[in-house]
Amino acid sequence: MKREQWGSRAGFILAAVGSAIGLGNIWRFPYMAYENGGGAFFIPYLFAMLTAGIPFMIMEFSLGHKLRGAAPRAFAQLGGKFEWLGWFQVSIAAIIAIYYVAIIGWAISYLGFSFSQSWGDDTNAFFFTEYLKLGENSPSQLGGLQLHIAIPMIIAWAISFAAIFSGVKAGIERASKIMMPLLFIMVLALIGRIIFLPGALDGLTYLFQPDFSKIMDAKVWSAAYGQIFFTLSVGFAIMIAYSSYLPEKSDINNNAFMTVLINCGFSITAGLLIFGVLGYMAQEQAKPITEVVSAGVGLAFVTIPAAINLLPLPFIFGPLFFLALVVAGLSSHISILEAVTSALIDKLHWTRKKAASVVCGSGFVISMAFATNGGLLLLDLVDYFINNIALLSSCLIELVIVAWLLKISDIRHYVNSISEFSIGRWFEVCVRFLSPALLAIILFTNFINTFNNGYGGYTQAELLLLGWGLVGVMLMTSVIINLMSKTQPQQEAKL
Ligand code: PHE
Ligand code: NA
Repeated sequence: MKREQWGSRAGFILAAVGSAIGLGNIWRFPYMAYENGGGAFFIPYLFAMLTAGIPFMIMEFSLGHKLRGAAPRAFAQLGGKFEWLGWFQVSIAAIIAIYYVAIIGWAISYLGFSFSQSWGDDTNAFFFTEYLKLGENSPSQLGGLQLHIAIPMIIAWAISFAAIFSGVKAGIERASKIMMPLLFIMVLALIGRIIFLPGALDGLTYLFQPDFSKIMDAKVWSAAYGQIFFTLSVGFAIMIAYSSYLPEKSDINNNAFMTVLINCGFSITAGLLIFGVLGYMAQEQAKPITEVVSAGVGLAFVTIPAAINLLPLPFIFGPLFFLALVVAGLSSHISILEAVTSALIDKLHWTRKKAASVVCGSGFVISMAFATNGGLLLLDLVDYFINNIALLSSCLIELVIVAWLLKISDIRHYVNSISEFSIGRWFEVCVRFLSPALLAIILFTNFINTFNNGYGGYTQAELLLLGWGLVGVMLMTSVIINLMSKTQPQQEAKL
């Protein structure tokens, strides 16, 4: 059967950008920048983008394009003993898919609330107590299923399923062509108004005010690198799957640069938006900005609703903001499901319709664990291990395999031979030395820290079972699939 293909170059870029731009850009990036030195964070961030983000994107686009397979098949073609890395990445994608959808579900609920600001004045109590109904719960004491959270999650699953089920061109590409322009227009409209509110510029000054003492702090560099891999959707099977549908004649270098620059540009724009709003809020409440900002999920679901309450025309701003969040989340969710679906199609020769139904059906059932009273805590714990341990390990191993066990100069020659502009030797330096060295240090620190200090006050049993245990099971499953694999590639592909 002939492999599906994107209908146009713009379609591919919009889909890749749709994957990259996600919840991570809208609430994670602004807070990270703020926490890690404000304006000074941009130095490690841009450095990580240039030395890790762009080279990684070029590498994954070329793997998918050349080897014409989702991650497991692509790695198997580099050598039969590498197939497990593809499955490990697919398992990361599968886990993220089932908790990310919970956040999209919350955003859908909040889209509903935003028309009349029915979250009230105490947005903190509203989110944690009234909406999530978080009581004396923990990741191992989830409580009961919350229908009012499950229903918006079902809506999110239905939209993602429809896109995956309909195929690369008729589903994913079409959805991206609607969602991405819509997202850009909404964000520009928001920012065009916010920037003129009193106090907004103070918020921006705050975001961009550099704290140079932070630049020497290893944690800041770790945060910057971690954010780059997550934000660009590299290292967890997505971009390899998407680029496996590229037509033969494709400009890899140009596509990779565009995807990275649009994503990171969007992040900075979202930073302007969020901090503009916070600056306004601080001014309205006559408080310093440090007192209005809150971390992580709290930023989107506690602080922003509180800020919307204070805005002129809240019934326009609120829906625009939460619809942007929903759209950004859905286009990423679609891509992460496609990473899993395409791997099953390759491996089991299922039809797309069957693979999409199995993936979304089982994903939906498991995701209901996050629609419980303790769902947020489970999400927090799993997300920590996936991002800080599993994803960074996967990226490091991918670099080692591609750059050290194979000839990386072959990749450079390959992409240069099909691209309009060429990339130089810096690419090899980044992929062979700089990025692996930095990643190894960061990962080592994460391991030690997590081992010694745990995370987030969760119990040893929870950390062992839902953190280390989960990553261990993912790894073992991947290795077992690799060992059972009979279909060795006819010949190992040369890049
Ligand atoms: N790049 C996404 C973001 O920044 C991360 C992601 C991609 C998450 C795909 C899930 C699925 O939010
Ligand atoms: Na992103």
